[in-house]
Amino acid sequence: MINVCVTCHTSRGGHAYLGVAAGTQPDVHLTNSKFDCLNCHSGHEMHGDGTKVEQRYAYEALPECKDCHSNKGVQNDNLYHTLHWNNLNCQTCHS
Ligand code: HEC
Ligand code: HEC
Ligand code: HEC
Ligand code: HEC
Repeated sequence: MINVCVTCHTSRGGHAYLGVAAGTQPDVHLTNSKFDCLNCHSGHEMHGDGTKVEQRYAYEALPECKDCHSNKGVQNDNLYHTLHWNNLNCQTCHS
């Protein structure tokens, strides 16, 4: 993870996930579950499948929080979710 992925992905990978910038914390998936990048980024979304796309967010295989945290599990766990589950990105609050 550190020697390969973070060598290029210093900002979101290095700084955000590892929480090295002043005033930030490591991602909960690193702290609680010892996930590395490949636990979530395991497919073509990483560097494409050879098909040209408009821009990087247009890849078809981007990972989603809901792949693991299903609607059924947490959608109505708190008022924030009840109000915003379908109209805000999870990362708006969980950044
Ligand atoms: C040699 C440098 C390099 C390495 C090493 C590298 N990446 Fe990337 N990665 C890139 C570049 C450049 C892009 C942007 C491609 C684009 O704009 O389409 C990218 C894009 C991505 C994307 C995002 C695609 C998107 O939609 O924005 C993910 C996720 C990703 N890399 C994950 C990883 C992971 C996980 C590893 C380690 C297994 C890794 N990368 C290793 C250079 C690298
Ligand atoms: C818990 C799951 C998870 C882990 C672990 C994880 N990511 Fe991500 N990553 C995501 C999700 C979800 C997105 C958002 C995809 C989207 O834009 O829809 C994302 C987006 C990205 C992007 C593209 C978006 C951007 O703003 O540039 C890159 C690059 C990336 N991750 C790299 C990494 C690297 C490098 C690591 C390891 C140091 C890592 N990720 C670990 C889930 C994860
Ligand atoms: C590959 C599966 C996977 C993906 C993708 C994933 N998570 Fe998780 N997440 C987990 C696991 C496993 C845990 C640990 C569960 C625990 O500690 O009980 C966790 C824990 C969490 C927690 C802490 C829960 C608690 O009770 O403290 C939050 C918040 C969270 N994830 C949000 C997100 C968000 C936001 C995204 C998208 C950016 C995401 N997750 C993507 C698997 C995933
Ligand atoms: C409007 C802000 C907001 C948005 C958007 C949001 N969350 Fe949350 N989420 C919270 C808050 C606040 C908590 C903590 C509630 C508490 O501790 O009482 C939380 C708690 C969680 C937890 C922890 C355990 C649980 O079951 O409550 C998980 C997992 C989680 N969110 C996943 C997600 C996912 C996945 C998405 C996107 C589909 C998402 N959240 C969107 C604010 C938000």
